[in-house]
Amino acid sequence: RTAQVTVDPAFAIGAADRRLFGSFVEHMGRCVYGGVFEPGHPEADADGFRTDVLGLTRELGVSVVRYPGGNFVSGYRWEDGVGPVGDRPRRLDLAWKTIETNAFGLHEFMTWAARAQVEPMMAVNLGTRGVQEACDLLEYTNHPSGTALSDLRRKHGAEQPYGVRLWCLGNELDGPWQVGHKTAAEYGRLAAETARAMKLVDPSISLVACGSSNRGMPTFASWEATVLEHTYEHVDYISAHTYYDPSDGDQASILASAVDMDSFIREVVATADHVAAKQRHRRKLRISFDEWNVWYQSRLQADLDRRGWVEAPALIEDTFTALDAVVVGDLLVTLLRHADRVGVACQAQLANVIAPIRTRTAGPAWRQSIFHPFALTARYARGTVLRTEPVSPTYPTARYGDVPVLDTVAVHDEERGELVVFAVNRGDTDLALDLDLRGLPRPSGQSHLTLAAGEDPTASNTEAEPDRVTPRETTTPTVDGGRCAVRLPAISWNLLRFA
Ligand code: AHR
Repeated sequence: RTAQVTVDPAFAIGAADRRLFGSFVEHMGRCVYGGVFEPGHPEADADGFRTDVLGLTRELGVSVVRYPGGNFVSGYRWEDGVGPVGDRPRRLDLAWKTIETNAFGLHEFMTWAARAQVEPMMAVNLGTRGVQEACDLLEYTNHPSGTALSDLRRKHGAEQPYGVRLWCLGNELDGPWQVGHKTAAEYGRLAAETARAMKLVDPSISLVACGSSNRGMPTFASWEATVLEHTYEHVDYISAHTYYDPSDGDQASILASAVDMDSFIREVVATADHVAAKQRHRRKLRISFDEWNVWYQSRLQADLDRRGWVEAPALIEDTFTALDAVVVGDLLVTLLRHADRVGVACQAQLANVIAPIRTRTAGPAWRQSIFHPFALTARYARGTVLRTEPVSPTYPTARYGDVPVLDTVAVHDEERGELVVFAVNRGDTDLALDLDLRGLPRPSGQSHLTLAAGEDPTASNTEAEPDRVTPRETTTPTVDGGRCAVRLPAISWNLLRFA
């Protein structure tokens, strides 16, 4: 099978924003406790942060980290997580049927984020709380001094304001599972009023209104339309969330997950632009794709039903396969291809909970298969994203009909004179790719890294065998007369570099 792609710097989509390589730390399972934070662990620093996880977070190239939820935030009282640790209350977390000790809270997260060299992105509780509590949290976090809340932060050890720029107005309030679930009109009004007040507290912040929990929600698109009719002028982003579940074993469909993500983005953009046209806004709204990943979701309910109230239970610690890594690489290709309208994206989550980083309590940390395409994309996707129009054979899927075998995106770093092409072969046979690079001055091939799942799609990384699935260097691509022929192995994610 063969496919063709033309890459030309004349066709720019937009800048590859670093914020596209975000992640998510929720008080869920062992993401915080036993993941990023484990006092007493041999690798923990004086504050209880696991330095092995900090090192892997930096290696992953994560830019922003969303916190503290997720479903957790919809019942959270932020005040529980500040002040002397010994005085913090133990609470029931209704979202995950867990006892929350509050040993980790706002200050711990901010200190961890500085050490991980990531930008914090906060969410306020619009499930059980409202305008006042959101403003209080913002004042506590960002106001310099001279008010009760800012001086309380200083008393708790943070003399300088944290200056958090990105704030989510609640989480997944369209979902009936959400504590404080609302109709679009109820949420739209609350989000608009909260946004208005928060911008009075700190006009420098950017706000994210909740979009749909996934494209399959019965209210999808009408939710976005109603919410944006209330909030468009007050917010900077509308969120999107999506998870792809490989549990049914339909390999052809799971490999085409990015086709669904692509349609989802286009539909949210169309809905936002419709509201903008109706309300005469010139400013284009962007998407914060602040939860996305592969997730063997059908296992969750059994996990929750099986047990009573405990602290930090192991929850949805999925072990990802080589095939899952190819899907994750393809989802990143899709996010990049929409760099003009997707401004923030966070893979969910960072540690243990459907995560690229796994740990054992009191034991080691290791990289899951999905770690690799994320780390390499974050590292090499720098500069301007270019439009490519691949000519590709198609294959049939039960979920999405006929889909292209090849998916690609190219990113051009003008300053360093480097071009990278990310290419995914979703098919179960090798694909011959013909790249037309004649738009570039004298291109030469530098390297071809491939993560191929064709031979053993179920291979995974485990504590015992942490490096079983890793990308491998293959033949350096040769460019002849501006054209380059490469072979993409069956079911593979590929990174091609040219100078
Ligand atoms: O990431 C796990 C959960 O998935 C989040 O808490 C929620 O927002 C989503 O449904």
